[in-house]
Amino acid sequence: MDMFRIEGGHRLEGSIHVDGAKNAALPVLAATIAVSGKVSLQRIPQLADVATMCSLLESMGATISGDAAASVTSPFSESVRQSLESENRSVGLPQQQGCSASGFAGGTLVVDSSSLHSVQASYDLVNRMRAGVCVLGPLLARHGRARVSLPGGCNIGHRPIDLHLRGLTALGARLHVESGYVVGTADRLVGCDILLDGPSGSTVTGTCNVMTAAALADGRTVIKAAACEPEVIDVARFLNAAGARIQGAGTPVIEIDGVEELHSAAHTIIHDRIEAATLAIAAAITGGDISIQHAPVQDMVGVCQVLKEAGVEVRITETSLRISSPGCRALKPVKFAASPYPGVPTDTQAQLMALLSLVPGVSVITDRVFPDRFRHAAELVRMGADIQVSSGTAVIQGVPRLTGATVMASDLRASAALVLAALAASGTSDVRRVYHLDRGYVQFEKKLQSLGAAIQRLSDASDI
Ligand code: UD1
Repeated sequence: MDMFRIEGGHRLEGSIHVDGAKNAALPVLAATIAVSGKVSLQRIPQLADVATMCSLLESMGATISGDAAASVTSPFSESVRQSLESENRSVGLPQQQGCSASGFAGGTLVVDSSSLHSVQASYDLVNRMRAGVCVLGPLLARHGRARVSLPGGCNIGHRPIDLHLRGLTALGARLHVESGYVVGTADRLVGCDILLDGPSGSTVTGTCNVMTAAALADGRTVIKAAACEPEVIDVARFLNAAGARIQGAGTPVIEIDGVEELHSAAHTIIHDRIEAATLAIAAAITGGDISIQHAPVQDMVGVCQVLKEAGVEVRITETSLRISSPGCRALKPVKFAASPYPGVPTDTQAQLMALLSLVPGVSVITDRVFPDRFRHAAELVRMGADIQVSSGTAVIQGVPRLTGATVMASDLRASAALVLAALAASGTSDVRRVYHLDRGYVQFEKKLQSLGAAIQRLSDASDI
């Protein structure tokens, strides 16, 4: 497994671009199962999770090819390949199953799911990447059968899929759980009214799953309490390009008039608002000044608001976000709750915690989406942060400095938070288990290096 060695104290400066959004690319790839014909997808990010989704589709019989030009200019990165191979060894998978044989190269992918010969999504792949459950709806809608592993436990708290199942059952699917798998059959699905809210609000992948299935249902489906995240809009745009009739994506009420068939289409994935936010926070924590090209600024209001409240200068142009920070000691503490879109994304909560741990005064964070998502706090404390977590609230007393340490990433965004903390810490940090980070950030260390960070990827010989 790989780790990052980071020497803290280097101010980030310069210009950087944002890649395609992981959380849009994954449900769009899953939705290709609902399409009879080839789909061309542009701006697919070169990530481990995307490779896993490709492996899942290929394991069911889809054919996937990368754009020839893209394979020359941006080959699937060696670090991502190695981290997948090492994960595959640990779960006993053959190499080609986890590191797509598709020739995936980032950039453009052409997916043809018309040749599917299996409707099974295996535990080894879905457990590694929960978005794998997004194949359930398309499989039932187009093939009338599905056997999809329940995703299992997760490092960011309890993550059930009851709302996915509720929505698909309402459309007429017959579902039961057997040996850790959701097993389903369906005749043609039938449109209806579906309420998709749970105790923590709406569900992003659940909305995508049910919306994709409803695109092929007979008649009209109205999804109420739908997730409003930009990634849901992107999936709807893709489906509409393939002939679906979906209106209202991005609002809590989505209306879908089912069609007989979805046809070949081309689609470009939106830019990644979480990657852009992470880079913005990296600039803020290092007292830096960076321009983030293609940042989807209209989708980043929540996180920009927190940065502004803290005293970071945030300048928005049509295509970029400029972040200038006077340094943590000159910033002010902030109180915020991570919440569904357009609020502060839960996927930026850990990175903001790293920033606020160096801001004088008391900051308070709650997470309304995943109330237990605070495992990163303990690792930040190991670097000298003063954070108390109790009853779903983190109270952060800003400290004058963090010190380099060996820390362990527990999930994707927690890894990003530890990297940001290490960039600002005095001394050297080793951030271990960065395969979590490779799931969601394209060549993160290279991007940070280009902005002046002292960060290297090393093989972690001590890891087991
Ligand atoms: C997606 C994102 C993830 C992000 C999360 C919240 C992808 C691939 N992942 O995850 O990065 O952190 O949205 O913005 O897009 N819930 C239920 N029942 C369900 C489904 C969800 O109770 O059937 C609860 C969850 O436990 C959680 C809340 O609803 O408390 C939101 O979860 P959800 O939006 O489904 O997260 P994901 O779609 O899995």
